[in-house]
Amino acid sequence: MRGPLNLYIIFHSLSMLMLLPVSAQTYTLRLMSRPAKTPKQSSKSSKLPIVVAILIVFAGLIGVWFLIMNSIEEEPKEQTSDSEIEEFDRSQHSIDDSSSIWVITNKQRPLQPGYTPEELVNPDIPLYGPRDAENMLVDARITNDLEQLVREAEEEGLNIALGSGYRSESYQRGIYNNYVEQHGEEEADRFSARPRHSEHQTGLAVDFVRPDGECSFQACFADLPEGEWLIENAYRYGFILRYQENTEDIVGYQYEPWHFRYVGRELAEELHAQGKPTLEEFFDLSPAPDYEG
Ligand code: DAL
Ligand code: ZN
Repeated sequence: MRGPLNLYIIFHSLSMLMLLPVSAQTYTLRLMSRPAKTPKQSSKSSKLPIVVAILIVFAGLIGVWFLIMNSIEEEPKEQTSDSEIEEFDRSQHSIDDSSSIWVITNKQRPLQPGYTPEELVNPDIPLYGPRDAENMLVDARITNDLEQLVREAEEEGLNIALGSGYRSESYQRGIYNNYVEQHGEEEADRFSARPRHSEHQTGLAVDFVRPDGECSFQACFADLPEGEWLIENAYRYGFILRYQENTEDIVGYQYEPWHFRYVGRELAEELHAQGKPTLEEFFDLSPAPDYEG
């Protein structure tokens, strides 16, 4: 609003200034073509052009003043150049090394043969299975954030337990084969990873459940207060919802609102800020809907 108003004032004032010589010339011509007046008449009418001229000059000065003020106020502010905006460094961690906190495994990207995390521990959160079960362990690097996440959820009156964490290659083979027997290979491949392709083998994936088992490993988990809270807040603790709705063609699996993957707070926050692209999209990897061959 200020810009157009100023422009109007400047344009108007400059027009007035330009009219000044024209009106002076007109006045001179008028004087020259007039018959001589009586002294009284002459003194009264001679004041008018002076007043008009003063007004025109005054209007012109206002215009110049606005012009100056405008140029002072609108001096280009210090710009932040593109190079000064801190770019997120996508190469801080490897996405290929199975032991990396950013490792990406999918149907096209198997883990290294025989990969086992260096340190596996029981996190200090409610466990949905026996403490000595393999899948009640997680990679030690994620426990702090995992425990903080569950603690904060508890403060909000929400109950979250570990449904499944680490799964070794042989454990994953057992459950995958079981699903193939029950549902056939094509269907099993939509929700269960083959051995060496599961994030659970890294110890960085966590399936959350409610201790009462409501909607465990079902899509309706997303509608429970616990599921809703996790989907909204887990990123603040470094966990991302890895298999989002409508991403099966990219990530290779159906929607799993209970499966969260630890990537660390920095990347999780960046992904959140960027509208939650999948890891494949963020790191410009090919979509992985199927296994090779
Ligand atoms: N349910 C996920 C895809 C897994 O088996 O790792
Ligand atoms: Zn899972």
